[in-house]
Amino acid sequence: MKTIFITGASSGIGKACVDLFSSKGWNVVAAMRNPKNPGWPDNVFVLKLDVTIRKEISDAVRKAEEKFGNIDVLLNNAGFGHVGAIESFSEKQMHEIFRTNVFGLVNLTNEVLPKMRKRNRGVIINVSSVVGKITSPLSGLYCATKYAVESISESLWHELSGTNIRVKLVEPGFTKSNFHSKSMVRGDVKIPFYEGRIEKKMQRMLSFTGATPAEDVAEAIFSAATDASKRLRYPGDKKAKFQLWMRKVLPDCIFLRIINRRFRR
Ligand SMILES: NC(=O)c1ccc[n+]([C@@H]2O[C@H](COP(=O)([O-])OP(=O)(O)OC[C@H]3O[C@@H](n4cnc5c(N)ncnc54)[C@H](OP(=O)(O)O)[C@@H]3O)[C@@H](O)[C@H]2O)c1
Repeated sequence: MKTIFITGASSGIGKACVDLFSSKGWNVVAAMRNPKNPGWPDNVFVLKLDVTIRKEISDAVRKAEEKFGNIDVLLNNAGFGHVGAIESFSEKQMHEIFRTNVFGLVNLTNEVLPKMRKRNRGVIINVSSVVGKITSPLSGLYCATKYAVESISESLWHELSGTNIRVKLVEPGFTKSNFHSKSMVRGDVKIPFYEGRIEKKMQRMLSFTGATPAEDVAEAIFSAATDASKRLRYPGDKKAKFQLWMRKVLPDCIFLRIINRRFRR
């Protein structure tokens, strides 16, 4: 039986992945900051992990291996967002988002990789976003963390070529979860110049009705975990696929104008 280790398993995409992989008979390590089990079956092992704490990373991996043996798939999913202008975030806030979305992902990967290299097998799946390719204004620092995840994953893909370890990026678009209600941090510094647009952006996000169910993104993640290909990138759903295609085919001058027009509305 295969084992997947999932971070940020308490809600949204992470939780949908726990449901999906466990229903398919996988052993699932559901790692989260505040452990709670909503009634998952015995093949789900809930444990505590804040990805910004080094000691919790090594403890969590050790406990997972004691419980299920080898970790076959690592799903780096934990993350949060920002809403606000670049100049509205304090230094502490800038560090915090990179510590979670980027350094936590790298530290956990580094904890799991040596054993994967020794066994010459494994899959590392990093949850990026369409904003890892398309910058959304007033979320610039969050986008920057996802650009970093894209680049780190692409580098890993090269570094591990010639092994049986596969590196995957899943790039969701707007997905139904706690992300836009709970996991969205506002800048500490209030600057009146931006406030009206920030409010509009928040309202648009909270009232948006076209979000993709987290279960659909979990299906894309399941494909990435099991398709045995060397493919690196997987759009989270059809809408994300279209947005990423537009970014690829349109010249910068047109693409930036489209984004800017939406932003100024
Ligand atoms: N929703 C979207 O539209 C969307 C689109 C593209 C990409 N994504 C990405 O998808 C991933 C999952 O987000 P989601 O949409 O499922 O949102 P979510 O429901 O808010 O889930 C985020 C998860 O990350 C966890 N987390 C945050 N900081 C953490 C830390 N320091 N250590 C461990 N866990 C931490 C949260 O834990 P707590 O419960 O403790 O807060 C929660 O379990 C994120 O990487 C996000 O950037 C989301």
